Amino acid sequence: MKNLFFIILLSILIGTIPLFAQNSSESMDQKIEEIIKQLSLKEKLDMCHAQSKFSSKGVPRLGIPEIWMSDGPHGVRAEIAWDDWSHANWTNDSCTAFPALTCLAATFNPELSYKYGKAIGEEARYRKKDILLGPGVNIYRTPLNGRNFEYMGEDPYLASKMVVPYIHGVQENGVAACVKHYVLNNQEHWRDHINVELSDRALYEIYLPAFKAAVQEGNVWSIMGAYNQYRGQYCCHNELLVNKILKRDWEFDGVLVTDWGATHDTKQAALYGLDIEMGTGTDGLTSSSKNAYDNYYLANPLRKMIENGEIDESVVDEKVKRILRLMFRTNMDNSRPFGSMNSQEHFDVAREIAQEGIVLLKNENNFFPIDPETTKTIAVIGENATRMMTIGGGSSELKTIHEISPLEGIQKRFANAKILHAMGYSSGPSAYGRVIPSKLNADSLQSEAIKIAKQADMVLFVGGLNKNHHQDCEGDDRLQFSLPFGQDELLSEILKVNQNTAIVLVSGNAVKMPWISKVKAIAQVWYLGSEAGNAIADILSGDVNPSGKLPFTFPVKLEDNAAHSFGEISYPGDGVNQEYKEDILVGYRWHDTKNIKPLFAFGYGLSYTDFEITNVKTDKKIYQEEDVISITCEIKNTGNLSGKELIQVYVNDVKSSVLRPLKELKGFKKVSLNSGESKSIQIDIPVKDLAFFDDKKMNWKLETGQFKLMIGTSSKNIINTTKIDVE
Ligand code: GLC
Repeated sequence: MKNLFFIILLSILIGTIPLFAQNSSESMDQKIEEIIKQLSLKEKLDMCHAQSKFSSKGVPRLGIPEIWMSDGPHGVRAEIAWDDWSHANWTNDSCTAFPALTCLAATFNPELSYKYGKAIGEEARYRKKDILLGPGVNIYRTPLNGRNFEYMGEDPYLASKMVVPYIHGVQENGVAACVKHYVLNNQEHWRDHINVELSDRALYEIYLPAFKAAVQEGNVWSIMGAYNQYRGQYCCHNELLVNKILKRDWEFDGVLVTDWGATHDTKQAALYGLDIEMGTGTDGLTSSSKNAYDNYYLANPLRKMIENGEIDESVVDEKVKRILRLMFRTNMDNSRPFGSMNSQEHFDVAREIAQEGIVLLKNENNFFPIDPETTKTIAVIGENATRMMTIGGGSSELKTIHEISPLEGIQKRFANAKILHAMGYSSGPSAYGRVIPSKLNADSLQSEAIKIAKQADMVLFVGGLNKNHHQDCEGDDRLQFSLPFGQDELLSEILKVNQNTAIVLVSGNAVKMPWISKVKAIAQVWYLGSEAGNAIADILSGDVNPSGKLPFTFPVKLEDNAAHSFGEISYPGDGVNQEYKEDILVGYRWHDTKNIKPLFAFGYGLSYTDFEITNVKTDKKIYQEEDVISITCEIKNTGNLSGKELIQVYVNDVKSSVLRPLKELKGFKKVSLNSGESKSIQIDIPVKDLAFFDDKKMNWKLETGQFKLMIGTSSKNIINTTKIDVE
């Protein structure tokens, strides 16, 4: 009888029996308070930790549902088993694989980011997931980080502008985004324990902004804590990062979820803001008599501390309040849409983002585009021409409904050409079930490649990195800056027999390019997901004019990179501690300020047409702190192909009391123009965005005086510099 009463009461509260729900003026929080009063301590604690690999308990007695989570940032991962990392081998969980987030960042197009979030959110909703474990916004600090492909580059402003629309798109589906990994998880090596030390300025100016934007502009409903430590406390229960910055200063009202197995201490987890503990090492449902999940830090150990009065139960109530708030926004909101899966619309979104994210790095004598009607012989060489890239890489792996390979895309689009293919090199047997030709050995592969290179009018070398361990893969970092698997050597052999060679780089990180002066063209094509081959062919054929821009710097050599300029303590650390000694000078900030010429600059990318920017103006010359700077200019497409250009605005504080980078990105806008067309563009920059973080006052500080506004089409190609004064 008692339970029936509670179920009726709860149904009214949740609104499944809309007796009072419609006209109930009760706020969500009042409903939540009412529910919490019904719950036993055990029921509350059960909601604060996993019950399986990817779910946490509801309250069956009261009809409160479980929370189901799924990776990842590029698509909804195949169902994982209840209690271990194996696949559940369902047959209805194939998904659309969207491009990796470095590609999305390379579009510099927030509208595409919204489309991305909406589409992936529809697939997560359709798969009945309440939390999508993405996107990731950790800053690109070293080219060796195994997970850079999952993130949005080296610049906090770019990552901040691109993460917000993605979150909105996902959460419109009644699915919580879960921005990760909060914070300073900028490498995979020793990720599970390394203690990161850095200045407050670097923390606030470089590593926090994208997370702050996710919370304050994106209204993200959950955040994932990182594995590593910061100032000696693990990020998932870090008093400064979680209680102070995330929940007090930023007023984050959602749920902090741990990374899987990132909880280390019951009392800290209880008191320092951890809401749901996931993935703690358990012996699963093996011989142990007790359910191993009861051994979680927030399970029995916390219950004992509450029962003996060491910790107050209100600590748990706060967690449950946040969890129920997420549920009212997701699986307890019965007005949310139903989602969709593997639709042509989703494939089109994946293809559009891929098209717009591909970066043309070199194009001597207009090598690209290749005339699609050509009958020439094209040799396509390289393992990445056929290798699946949606599998592997760690938790962002996907079981995709289809993945068009670069070779397939090229064969389809260049149907009139004679396409030859050779693997050329092999990354060796991979853990992801690839069938490796039995006659495989490096010499036979190379001689096959040279043979077809000799016969061809042109060579498309489709190489790069892949999702193997120690490549673009979670769990550890790359071991070298150069291309792996003997690609450089193979390329030099190919170039001896055919100079008409272009490179199609399938990768998520910068690489060394010793052959750069000898190849005719280079396209950086990222990991593009289901529509990879189609999008690559769209660009190579000129069907689509490339407009991608690099979201991170390509250094000439590893030693030119900031993180690799201060010895082992800077990267990868000494095994216990790590110091970000480059401080705020990450990426182009380092290259500009130290005058180290990059191979390719942040914000750089070529087009098949040309643009001219003129008549740059600001609305005023002198600004107050509460003003907004309006920068206008004219841009004309002076070429004979329609295309898109990215106008970028960088700022320099001419005279400041502290070291500031030579330039910092503070505005950008992508413009689409037909041949001969002109448009006038306006980019607005709030004056307060020109401030730096004063680590004496622990607050942002805007100093008066002169600032330079640099307008350009890459961080190196500045077309106009305008000076303004802030009073
Ligand atoms: C992994 C990753 C995280 C992922 C989680 C669940 O260790 O770090 O990004 O969402 O565990 O797979």
